[in-house]
Amino acid sequence: MNNDIERVLYSKEELNRRMDELAKQLTAEYKDQRPLIISVMTGAVLFTVDMIKRMDIMAKLDFIDVSSYYGGTSSTGKVKLVQDLKSDVRDRSILIMEDIVDTGHTLKYLIDLLKERGAKSVKVCTLLDKPEGRQVEVKADYVGFNVPNEFLVGYGLDYQGYYRNLPYVGILKPAVYEKD
Ligand code: IMP
Ligand code: MG
Repeated sequence: MNNDIERVLYSKEELNRRMDELAKQLTAEYKDQRPLIISVMTGAVLFTVDMIKRMDIMAKLDFIDVSSYYGGTSSTGKVKLVQDLKSDVRDRSILIMEDIVDTGHTLKYLIDLLKERGAKSVKVCTLLDKPEGRQVEVKADYVGFNVPNEFLVGYGLDYQGYYRNLPYVGILKPAVYEKD
């Protein structure tokens, strides 16, 4: 698996250090709000569990699965709800946890959905942000790292379902997806 990686962008240690900082900010913001933390499956699950362990707050956790990728390395722009939340979001403070924001379609879909359902506030924490990829205007409130416009894998991010379990974030060798 490691042989398919061209370059490591963020090591396990760098990820941990940045998560310590982000969690401190989120703890301060949410300490009196009892937020509902929504983790966007499957990519953001690793980031979410590592973050919530660092946050000293009362919070609930739920999951939502949306898909826009259909296996390739670029987004189709269409987002579909694959698995809904268990929770009612009405009047709740919501914190969405994402792995990466690229075109912005996924995030826009989620924010619109949660607001439509009556959420009191919706904020977003993403580990990675690829600003060059943006097709719709949407902004994350908390960003781990701004990343270049390359296809990344690891620490939750996948290519065709694989590489999520790499402990770091790296650039996938183009040869891996060019041959598919
Ligand atoms: P968006 O809708 O284009 O912003 O895409 C967001 C989703 O696409 C993320 O939640 C990821 O699952 C996936 N994605 C975007 N960029 C990458 C990447 O570089 N590697 C792996 N998955 C990605
Ligand atoms: Mg995702």
